[in-house]
Amino acid sequence: MFYSDVTKRWGCVMEKSEGRREAQAAEGDGLRMAPEQMLDLAHRAAELLVERIETLPGEGAWDGDFQQELEKQLMEAPPEAGRPAAEVLERAARDILPFSLRLDHPRSLAFVSTSPTWPGVLADFMASGFHVNQCTWLVASGPSQLELVVIDWFRRWIGYPESAGGLFTSGGSAASLDAFVAAREAAGHPDRAAVYMSDQSHSAHIRAARIIGVRPERIRLLPSDERFRLDLEALGRAVAEDRAAGLHPIAVCANAGAVSTGAIDPLGEMADFCEAQDIWLHVDAAYGGFAAVTERGKELLSGMERADSIGMDAHKWFFQPYEAGALLVKDVKTLEDAFAVRHDILQDTIWGANHPNFSDRGLQLSRSFRALKVWMSVQTFGMAAFRRAVSRGMELAERAEAYVRESPHLEMLTPVSLGIVCFRVNPADAGLDEEALEEINRTVLARIFWDDKAFVSSTLLKGKFALRFCIINHNTTWDDVRETLETIERFGREAVGSG
Ligand SMILES: Cc1ncc(COP(=O)(O)O)c(C=O)c1O
Repeated sequence: MFYSDVTKRWGCVMEKSEGRREAQAAEGDGLRMAPEQMLDLAHRAAELLVERIETLPGEGAWDGDFQQELEKQLMEAPPEAGRPAAEVLERAARDILPFSLRLDHPRSLAFVSTSPTWPGVLADFMASGFHVNQCTWLVASGPSQLELVVIDWFRRWIGYPESAGGLFTSGGSAASLDAFVAAREAAGHPDRAAVYMSDQSHSAHIRAARIIGVRPERIRLLPSDERFRLDLEALGRAVAEDRAAGLHPIAVCANAGAVSTGAIDPLGEMADFCEAQDIWLHVDAAYGGFAAVTERGKELLSGMERADSIGMDAHKWFFQPYEAGALLVKDVKTLEDAFAVRHDILQDTIWGANHPNFSDRGLQLSRSFRALKVWMSVQTFGMAAFRRAVSRGMELAERAEAYVRESPHLEMLTPVSLGIVCFRVNPADAGLDEEALEEINRTVLARIFWDDKAFVSSTLLKGKFALRFCIINHNTTWDDVRETLETIERFGREAVGSG
């Protein structure tokens, strides 16, 4: 459309809504804005965001303040009369939003950090602007069809059969909760339920098991092997012992990218075991699952497709804004059997046989339209770009591993897996004991934090303090990774020298 067409059409829109705006103003509706003001405000918001994205690499990777300081600035009663909207926007951008870890910073290598794509950000804006409630087909048929489309993409990427289906969730925690509910119902809702996972599993699964009412002593955290993968023999023993004690194993949870190390549990063998034992297998692929869009990732995650359910987060390795989790189950009926509840107030939403109501597949009734961000991003950039971006995370992690292995000051603590690098400062000739090593690495981590050029986090690997990179940001370059490693080496040398 040419600019003149846009302005002509825009003039029409303004004219049509003018009468209504006047009537609303007369009735004292104070929650509307004039179209020009809405546009100005949205334009300013977009400007602030684009400026932030463009300047981010030169900024610190973290900002924050203590609660007593932020409280002084922000704790206040809500104003009775409004303030100019532009002022409110600027205040949010100046006094609130920057005080955070910049998870999308190219040198934010901590936790599970990545950058959302711009179409993904705008999709959230559009979905809010269209005020979508992605609950039932009647209420949101277009969005529901699109959620089916994107969930079907995920289904194909992970190699699930056509009987599979699922839904978008807030994230991995909600996906595992929904999965455990489905597992419990599929097992006939036994009283003495037990669940099994490795000591490397994300705390989200312990919480999910607690929420569905599994007693703490029946949430079995099994030892992992020297590569941080679940020990199958320990799993077999625990299940046999529990059955002998009259417990009912309802679910086993496998890691497809454990959050500390990226470890992948023996998925095929776990699937064999769960099939033989008739236990639901849930795979936590929250962080690692999107590696499946690459040939290499698919190979690494082979066996995942045999699980009863899989959780995967597009706000992690698929470059979307929070919240973009998803749960897929091999037989979508199991999810609907577990969650569908009829209610009089929703009787009008049953108006055809062949459409799903996503609220019948999980714990939320009112739901935001999360599939749109994935769809708009993939439509804009194409899958080849996504595959390259996912592959690059793995390649950068491998280059980091090679760097660490060659460094006389650093030590790898476990081989790289799915973009995660666990290592520490440990000069070969210093002969430091574990206690001294922990102190030195804590010192290095604290210096990285205050140095502010990068943000790195740590983990404990069987008691050993480890520095950890998770490299899954499509904006991260080898220079970002190399410079951070060089800084760690330098801080490490200084810490050892002064110790
Ligand atoms: C492997 C894994 N599982 C589960 C979760 C929890 O996901 P969410 O924070 O999206 O609820 C995370 C979060 O980092 C994770 O890395």
